[in-house]
Amino acid sequence: MKSSEVKATLSFSDGSPSIELPIYQGSAGPDVIDIRKLYGQTGKFTYDPGFLSTASCNSAITFIDGDKGELLYRGYPIEQLAVQCDYMETCYLILYGELPNAAQKQEFVRRVSQHTMVNEQMQFFLRGFRRDAHPMAVLTGLVGAMSAFYPDSINLHDVAQRDISAIRLIAKLPTLVAMAYKYNMGQPYMYPRNDLSYAGNFMRMMWATPCEEYVPNPVIERALDRIFILHADHEQNASTSTVRLCASSGTNPFAAIAAGVACLWGPAHGGANEACLNMLYEIEAAGGVARIGEFIAKVKDKNSSVRLMGFGHRVYKNYDPRAKLMRETCHEVLDALGLHNDPLFKLAMTLEKIALEDDYFIQRKLYPNVDFYSGIVQKAIGVPVSLFTAIFALARTVGWIAQLNEMIADPEYKIGRPRQLFTGSPARQVLPLAQRA
Ligand code: SDX
Repeated sequence: MKSSEVKATLSFSDGSPSIELPIYQGSAGPDVIDIRKLYGQTGKFTYDPGFLSTASCNSAITFIDGDKGELLYRGYPIEQLAVQCDYMETCYLILYGELPNAAQKQEFVRRVSQHTMVNEQMQFFLRGFRRDAHPMAVLTGLVGAMSAFYPDSINLHDVAQRDISAIRLIAKLPTLVAMAYKYNMGQPYMYPRNDLSYAGNFMRMMWATPCEEYVPNPVIERALDRIFILHADHEQNASTSTVRLCASSGTNPFAAIAAGVACLWGPAHGGANEACLNMLYEIEAAGGVARIGEFIAKVKDKNSSVRLMGFGHRVYKNYDPRAKLMRETCHEVLDALGLHNDPLFKLAMTLEKIALEDDYFIQRKLYPNVDFYSGIVQKAIGVPVSLFTAIFALARTVGWIAQLNEMIADPEYKIGRPRQLFTGSPARQVLPLAQRA
């Protein structure tokens, strides 16, 4: 980043001395005002709950232009990556900064496929859960538990250990997600197969049984691979910021990623795809398209907490480019599976059309986000609703790791420790129990 010629001058109406703050320019997006010396020079903090106007770091991984609806991974538009690349190439790009050539891709895929099995002891963790445990509860536990199995790759400050833990996490997340699914189904786990693609291997671990051979449907394989690409990274969203803050204490990468999994679970974040499908089910059960108007009225009613799940975004004030690609994937998969009359898909498209023409949504710049269509396509390919967010976590693991590595490699990084505006009681004396009213 480079310093701007323009400085920010902060002056105070109470006559306190004004100060100058440097402004930095990135390669794209808004400039930033460096406030690191503000407290030291003024004794004051800034105040920004929810970080609406705060850049927590500098990063070269992902760029979003919310007004244009633009998303770039290392400068490449998501529309090109989703069509011309696969998830393994995208992982390499996000992790190392450049798209791999054929030899680099082959070596990366080989390295990942050598780490797809998990320790046999991992299966005993699942036995502690009830069969109907939510997969995100299971996954949070399993990812954190990985810290106990790889003592040779828990030192965040060792580049080689950071690299092997990245490979292990990318390789093992599909295995763990599939194990959570099989445990829920009461079926035996399927071991990974290194002769299959990343998505094909995940499909086999999910839907194959020991009783017969399983060949991944190429349409679904491609659709899943694209779903992984679309979810791979997204700058400083809530779960990525969680991973960065967690890792800033120097904890191990598995624990930091487990924190990201836990944060992603929330319905305002990665849990929105599950919440969106449940919303569509509710509207369908209440009468379908005929009841959309009533539902939208509830969403607009200030006294109701009902939100149009899969709509709105802190950064996108235009169409989420991932939603457009996800809708295309939806069409392709539903057509390929002969489900083009899927009532939920029709309901979703009608709901989208009505919302995009409604002043409430137009005024607030609320557009479909990545979660609006991802649930429909996952349901169509046989993923249970409760597993949607676990698949989001599987895909986002590479982004979390890359962001964690970028932070640790930044010589300026410190442990994250925000301050506060204190509004509680001033100091007071403890009364002995007998004297308390
Ligand atoms: C993801 O950050 C990321 O990059 C996340 C993500 C990623 O890849 O990591 O993109 C993944 O989390 C996508 C978002 C998934 N969440 C949902 O679809 C849940 C529904 N969406 C909302 O909860 C909401 O839009 C958020 C949480 C996504 C964004 O919230 P903001 O930016 O804090 O917006 P806000 O709550 O301040 O809303 C502004 C206004 C409010 O109305 P007013 O008070 O001004 O009258 O818009 C309204 C909100 O009530 N609003 C909605 C709405 N989202 C915002 N009203 C109805 N339905 C919605 N979905």
